[in-house]
Amino acid sequence: MSSTTQHWNPAQYGKDARFVSDLGMPVVDLLSPQRGENILDLGCGDGALTAKLVELGCNVVGVDSSFEMIAAAKSLGLNARVMDGQALRFTHEFDAVFSNAALHWMKNPECVIAGVWRALKPGGRFVGEFGGCGNVTSIVTALESALSSRGKMVASPWFFPHPEEYKRLLEASGFEIKTLELIPRPTLLPGDVSGWLQTFAQPYISVLPAAQRLDFISEVVETLRPLLCDTKGDWKADYVRLRFATTKPNTAT
Ligand SMILES: C[S@@+](CC[C@H](N)C(=O)[O-])C[C@H]1O[C@@H](n2cnc3c(N)ncnc32)[C@H](O)[C@@H]1O
Repeated sequence: MSSTTQHWNPAQYGKDARFVSDLGMPVVDLLSPQRGENILDLGCGDGALTAKLVELGCNVVGVDSSFEMIAAAKSLGLNARVMDGQALRFTHEFDAVFSNAALHWMKNPECVIAGVWRALKPGGRFVGEFGGCGNVTSIVTALESALSSRGKMVASPWFFPHPEEYKRLLEASGFEIKTLELIPRPTLLPGDVSGWLQTFAQPYISVLPAAQRLDFISEVVETLRPLLCDTKGDWKADYVRLRFATTKPNTAT
């Protein structure tokens, strides 16, 4: 098994993955941010949704483990800093912790949830959405199969839990679940799936020598064409999201 590597490039993200934050507005609605609230945006990326929360009158801190994404968020004038979501360093500071499309990259959910709990004031909310079980299964299967035919294996870089598993983790920390649902959401891509692979599947691609990578991507694209591309040439990734809203009880410390 090889270790995984993922590098975030804000320009590539803006070109091939802008749909991620564009489709995050229902999670902002679920958060129901109130003017003047202190909000932590966990895994804020280049800050597109952080900026929306600021526009709504909130005091927002964005954290992300990528220096490049934080630099892009700062260039929008946002209060953003590099921090691992699995080792948050905040205590009783926030009315809410918000997260879109980031929690599945953090493979130690117990540490994430414990850090979120500490970061929240009593009565605070933890609201988010990320990949749930079944997310991009056809893409993962195609990647694993093309790697296996090259004698390689990669441990999944993602945590795509079953709703019951995530509910159990949240409740074990003391969170009260308001809503938690798995939402199949086939997602239109801005081009063919190669942009998605180059943006998100680097842990699979980077184990191959540079000279083999383009062939590998082409093979995965052709495997996926009959599954994800319709007769008009539109590609839809087989996204399945886990969306949740929880509260830290008022009586909690
Ligand atoms: C798909 S992007 C989502 C960004 C943003 N929330 C949005 O909606 O556009 C995932 C983000 O999670 C961040 N991330 C991955 N692992 C992380 C970790 N351990 N701690 C903090 N951020 C992490 C990545 O750097 C990346 O910016």
